[in-house]
Amino acid sequence: METALLPVSPDSLQRAAALLQAGQIVGMPTETVYGLAANAADPEAVARIFTAKGRPSDNPLIVHIAELSALPQLADPPALAYKLAKAFWPGAMTMVLPRRDTVPDCVTAGLDTVGIRMPSHPAAAALIRESGLALAAPSGNRSGSPSPATAAQMLADMDGRIPMILDGGPCEVGVESTVILVREDSVRLLRPGGVTADDLREFCLVEVDDGVLHPLADGEAAASPGMKYRHYAPAAEVTLVTGTAEAFAEFVTAHTASGVAVMASREELPRLPGLHVPFGRQGDPESQARELFTALRRCDELGAETVYVHCPPKRGIGLAVYNRLLRAAAFREIVL
Ligand code: TXA
Ligand code: MG
Repeated sequence: METALLPVSPDSLQRAAALLQAGQIVGMPTETVYGLAANAADPEAVARIFTAKGRPSDNPLIVHIAELSALPQLADPPALAYKLAKAFWPGAMTMVLPRRDTVPDCVTAGLDTVGIRMPSHPAAAALIRESGLALAAPSGNRSGSPSPATAAQMLADMDGRIPMILDGGPCEVGVESTVILVREDSVRLLRPGGVTADDLREFCLVEVDDGVLHPLADGEAAASPGMKYRHYAPAAEVTLVTGTAEAFAEFVTAHTASGVAVMASREELPRLPGLHVPFGRQGDPESQARELFTALRRCDELGAETVYVHCPPKRGIGLAVYNRLLRAAAFREIVL
């Protein structure tokens, strides 16, 4: 199959919408990461997503909508969900809610909840409207590799596996949406993202799920199935290093060898040894989120065997970056 990479235009949106209506799957830009979209109501189309990604079938998909009126058709939301929707949609927040029977089992992986998000990227909203469908869409990477932050990164993973990717430019946020389980008057943070725990605390109690920062114990069930897999990982062995810029520089100088890469801010890189992987700007977690997945893919392009990552602060969106890095590093972290 030829994979067409088309810039977003009225014509390409129409072609993508027609493919979706015909049960095909399409690469779609969102403000978080690129997604691989299918008609959420069509189990055969949804099955194509799992095949193209090589995704385990017990990992549920997020359903994307463009209007709040689509929400009660898919889920049975408590009042708090509407408050949060008003504050954070369209945007980088996915709410896990009690599902309705209209959502096929293959989307929810048989759970009695469904994850729903209203993306803010204009091309994603236009595609949902043009197709007239709710779109199930996981991140557009092959299962296990870093999520795509650009159309070219998605093409590298999906070339020949899907008919089309809409190119809407690089993603603004760079890490996937915040996933929260919404209850009557509190939420449980399952995956940190662009909408931070502090943003949510303005509206309700926020409990951070253990899975956000810790590996699951053997046999423990994941609240968010996607968080249990080794994820976002380059071929190299990744180790997180937490400490000041000085301590990090000392550490990597002591551990340099051929095949060793360092992933650190642009300000730090010039005085570090090894293969350089730029990772945002110092003290600017938004830029580190935006560059995270490009940096992880860069490690492979450089043929790195070992990567030392200077760990960003774990606050705000930095928590989302840290959560992804922990999985890329299989939880290997050195605190200096
Ligand atoms: O920003 C995003 O969320 C992107 C864009 C494309 O919207 N999508 C994305 O999808 O990251 P995916 O499939 O790569 O990650 C979805 C995460 C997984 O960890 C999955 O287990 C969790 O959300 N999830 C989905 N539905 C769930 C549910 N009903 N209960 C618990 N976790 C759920
Ligand atoms: Mg994903």
